[in-house]
Amino acid sequence: MKKRPFVAGNWKMNMTAPLVRAWFEEWIRLSPGTEEAETIVCPPYTALGEAARRAAGTAVRLGGQNLHWEDSGAFTGEVSGPMLVDAGCRFVIIGHSERRQYFGETEATVQKRIAAALRAGLRPIVCVGETLAQREADRTLGVIQAQLEGGLAGFTPETIGGLIFAYEPVWAIGTGRTATPEQAQVVHRAIRDRLAQKIGNPAAGCVIILYGGSVKPANACDLFRKPDIDGFLVGGASLEAAAFGEIVKESIRSYKEVN
Ligand code: PGA
Repeated sequence: MKKRPFVAGNWKMNMTAPLVRAWFEEWIRLSPGTEEAETIVCPPYTALGEAARRAAGTAVRLGGQNLHWEDSGAFTGEVSGPMLVDAGCRFVIIGHSERRQYFGETEATVQKRIAAALRAGLRPIVCVGETLAQREADRTLGVIQAQLEGGLAGFTPETIGGLIFAYEPVWAIGTGRTATPEQAQVVHRAIRDRLAQKIGNPAAGCVIILYGGSVKPANACDLFRKPDIDGFLVGGASLEAAAFGEIVKESIRSYKEVN
């Protein structure tokens, strides 16, 4: 049995309040047929208020794109877990490759952010993924394993079992170059196997593992068909309510086909 699809949109540094309003107006018009999936959007902090108002009455839930590991204090420019909760978030993306690449994110800071998210009652979406150079050097699984080991250090099996993971090959993000369903499945399986060693097989089987990297309506169905792909983390295509809605509907179509 496949799990109910889980599809999260990462709006990155895009969207102002008027665009959020227009997005939700379109979403509401197009959303019939998306109810069977769990649908999340992760707006920039400044658009969370508008998104929360617009999402009320829809099935869309909100996530943050990052959080600081302290709950409050003298950390100019940062946003904490309790602040995200206050703004209406239930989820938070942690360790996105853009954070790793441009903002010095490491395994140690991923680990601290996971702890902060859990303290605040947020469900972390923990991102892992290899660069093109690492893939070409045949280091993909080693890199993913190191990211998992470092990020998850010190957490109990119960805690790990409640996390959501996103496999996002860096070379597929925003490039239009998607991993093939087979390439993605190999890594998703490896992540689940690694989790099984930590938390046991049945619990690892229940963990949601998303794929991210140039997901579009045209490739969502084939990717979702793979046994260890439970949904998507969508960047570019989530900025258009219509394309995002199609990805959700394709996932549901595939889910019904497989089950
Ligand atoms: P993309 O981004 O869908 O634009 O490739 C995915 C992500 O970075 O989460």
